[in-house]
Amino acid sequence: MKTQLLGSTPIEISRIAYGCMRISGSWDRTKVDAEAIKKGIAAVEAAVDAGYTFFDHADIYGDTACESIFGQALALHPTWRDKMVIATKCGIRFEDEPLPGQPHRYDFSFEHIVQSAEESLKRLQVETIDLLMLHRPDFLADPQEIARAFVKLRDEGKVREFGVSNFRPSLVSAVQSALPFALQVNQVEIHLRRLACFTDGTLDQCLERKITPMAWSSLQQGRLATGHVPQPGAPGYDHHVELLRAVDTAAEAYGTERTVMALAWLLKHPSGIVPVVGSAKPESIRIAACATEIDLDRDTWYRILRAARGEKLP
Ligand SMILES: NC(=O)c1ccc[n+]([C@@H]2O[C@H](COP(=O)([O-])OP(=O)(O)OC[C@H]3O[C@@H](n4cnc5c(N)ncnc54)[C@H](OP(=O)(O)O)[C@@H]3O)[C@@H](O)[C@H]2O)c1
Repeated sequence: MKTQLLGSTPIEISRIAYGCMRISGSWDRTKVDAEAIKKGIAAVEAAVDAGYTFFDHADIYGDTACESIFGQALALHPTWRDKMVIATKCGIRFEDEPLPGQPHRYDFSFEHIVQSAEESLKRLQVETIDLLMLHRPDFLADPQEIARAFVKLRDEGKVREFGVSNFRPSLVSAVQSALPFALQVNQVEIHLRRLACFTDGTLDQCLERKITPMAWSSLQQGRLATGHVPQPGAPGYDHHVELLRAVDTAAEAYGTERTVMALAWLLKHPSGIVPVVGSAKPESIRIAACATEIDLDRDTWYRILRAARGEKLP
């Protein structure tokens, strides 16, 4: 799989990342049994075999089980570590955690960022997190406090690079202004049914600041792959069908399939969008990787954009 560079001491990342959110098979840690762990490890092995080197986590995935399963996979394959870029996120705290009565909240406090990263290191069984992202904007985010946590984690060798997720451009700028090093990533929802980033300044800012945009749910949680559309006659039905038809037509012309075309469409953008693929099925993981072999022509890209917008360009 082709690669691009990330970071101040540039590290190579695969053009498509593997998202580990579903490798535990459940968001309830108590339901993650030996069989689920085996399947999760097999998914990571399939991703490595298919050429993915960029792995995306968050402390909350599977209620921490996803990082633990990944750590077990790494322990089974110690030679992987040098070839991998391991990313994780922090900052979302669920209701009643850690104490009963605490609300669902976002937490970019110095203490939480540092503690969360240290716990992720243990679960992942690594010395260093390659990329730590702030998961969702904390309404009380203080750039100076974030910078203090990031600098400490970097100085102690616990985190190499930093990024954000679901950040509006103005908050990226505010956090960046307090940091002595560059933010590397903004991970946002981008897929053919979520095009806001193309027009709300997010991708423009990535181009300007050389921030790598990562596209989460790049297949719209699988709906673009399965061809999910609303009921006939329901609002948006015609638009959804038109989009699937446009993607399928392009896929046929390129001798590939719909999922590959939907990812190749994202890869074409000059900001270097890194789609994050979330299937836990080895075959789907392998097929998605083929998107990096396609260099979509501009006309096809615009035909798909037109169908995705559901209306003509101005
Ligand atoms: N930063 C954030 O706020 C945020 C939010 C959400 C996700 N993420 C990241 O983004 C990653 C991807 O998200 P996602 O899992 O929603 O993305 P996705 O790749 O759009 O969707 C994956 C889902 O689609 C299903 N699917 C069905 N047919 C498929 C096919 N042919 N190919 C691929 N998948 C197919 C998969 O099921 P099977 O497993 O059965 O194939 C899986 O349930 C996550 O793992 C996580 O790392 C980040």
